[in-house]
Amino acid sequence: MRVDRFLSNLPRFNRQQVRLLLVERRISVDGVAVSDPHHDVREFSRVCVDGQVLQAGRPARYFMLHKPKGCVSATADARHPTVLDWLDEPDKGELHIAGRLDFNTTGLLVITNDGQWSRRLTQPQTKLPKVYRVHTQQDIGPEYAATFAAGLYFAFEDLTTQPAELVLLGPRIARLSIVEGRYHQVKRMFGHFDNKVIDLHRERMGPLELDATLAPGEYRALTDAEIRQV
Ligand code: URA
Repeated sequence: MRVDRFLSNLPRFNRQQVRLLLVERRISVDGVAVSDPHHDVREFSRVCVDGQVLQAGRPARYFMLHKPKGCVSATADARHPTVLDWLDEPDKGELHIAGRLDFNTTGLLVITNDGQWSRRLTQPQTKLPKVYRVHTQQDIGPEYAATFAAGLYFAFEDLTTQPAELVLLGPRIARLSIVEGRYHQVKRMFGHFDNKVIDLHRERMGPLELDATLAPGEYRALTDAEIRQV
């Protein structure tokens, strides 16, 4: 089989990504870097991306969970239920969370065993928006949107947050799009105005939207189309 077809058949790469991987010479077949999309891949060829073998190991798995309140985004916790407790799947130990949510934050949580794919979804460099519905204790002022768009200085990390977009949905409810996932980022952004976030819900991560048919605590596997969009 042609190497470009072999790669496009994997759920984690779309055709454009495959073209780029080949141009950037990040693919090797049997130890030799290849850029020719016609290069032949045989049944026992060893195909790597960035030195990582693609065929070896278990199949890649991808899930979206509607995270309910009251569980931690961790794979193990001594005191609290974890988000993995909601999954009825084998070999949960090999799964990780692509973009954590706080204990009482609800909404879209993506869980996978594919590290390269999840990095694309979460890395600030890929600039995929993470979209949150935010309820606050006080009214949201007219000055918030410009402040968030300009970026806020976070002293602890010594960085300025990337431009974020705020859309008011009501006096105390808004939709916020951010491209990073800094620690407690949304709460800290509203905290800048001494405005406490009382309810936080993630609606979307890049192309992945929380399936409206999933009740809190329910999950489903991502479709091949969803996996390829990331
Ligand atoms: N920002 C927060 O403050 N909490 C979350 O759970 C997610 C983003």
